[in-house]
Amino acid sequence: MEIIRFEHVTKSFGDQRVLDDFSLAVNEGEILTVIGRSGCGKTTMLKMINGLEMPDSGKVYVEGEEVGSTDLTALRRRIGYVIQNKGLFPHMTVEKNITYVPVISGKKNKKENRQTALRLLELVGLDASMLDRYPSELSGGQQQRVGIARALAAETKLLLMDEPFGALDEITKRSMQKEVLNLQKKLQMTIVFITHDIREAMRLGNRVLVMEQGRIAQLDTPEMIRSHPADDFVRELTGTEEEPH
Ligand SMILES: Nc1ncnc2c1ncn2[C@@H]1O[C@H](COP(=O)(O)OP(=O)(O)OP(=O)(O)O)[C@@H](O)[C@H]1O
Ligand SMILES: [Mg+2]
Repeated sequence: MEIIRFEHVTKSFGDQRVLDDFSLAVNEGEILTVIGRSGCGKTTMLKMINGLEMPDSGKVYVEGEEVGSTDLTALRRRIGYVIQNKGLFPHMTVEKNITYVPVISGKKNKKENRQTALRLLELVGLDASMLDRYPSELSGGQQQRVGIARALAAETKLLLMDEPFGALDEITKRSMQKEVLNLQKKLQMTIVFITHDIREAMRLGNRVLVMEQGRIAQLDTPEMIRSHPADDFVRELTGTEEEPH
């Protein structure tokens, strides 16, 4: 079953075409990792899934509904979204940030919410003492992890992650990658995951989408991308080129 569908989507900013006749189907329960050079359109593509950007032409569907044809706020509540270094509410404590979506969705039990926040903090490897701090009192990597906890608290079936582990050290990153794999298995989430880290893309993705200038250079399993890169660009990007002897 597919959960996201792009049909012939085109998007330009001024004269610059950022997505060019872009079509894609994401299957329910898969992790799709997205790689490609800076500026190739990855974030723009991701933002079209929750209606933060709209196509100039073509259509995007989430669970069969065309994005923009129904209430965007309701759609966004069903979609977790993690962006690098941004997105926390600066005037809210860590706890309030994490439980934001459950609270606006009607979960008002303070004790339960605190428990949820604590459980998720632990999951992302942060200390309970962080709960009452404000984002400005955390390091970049800690903020990032709070952002991940907040997205998980919403318990959405669909999670969009835009370079979520970019600011994390290798060890934390490894354990967060494991956590993503566990969660995906446990909750059958669908995750679209943008990264500049090719190894991360290959490790996490059931399929890897390689983008080049607003188009799909290749969409395939990590194994196939490694063994059968579609062209020189994919080969170079994924480092599958044979080392010269
Ligand atoms: N709101 C905007 N207005 C004008 N240009 C934009 C806007 N958003 C993105 N762009 C341009 O569109 C192109 C694609 O941007 P996008 O953020 O999708 O790239 P990306 O693949 O995510 O890059 P990176 O890997 O650096 O995050 C870039 O050239 C960017 O400058
Ligand atoms: Mg980006």
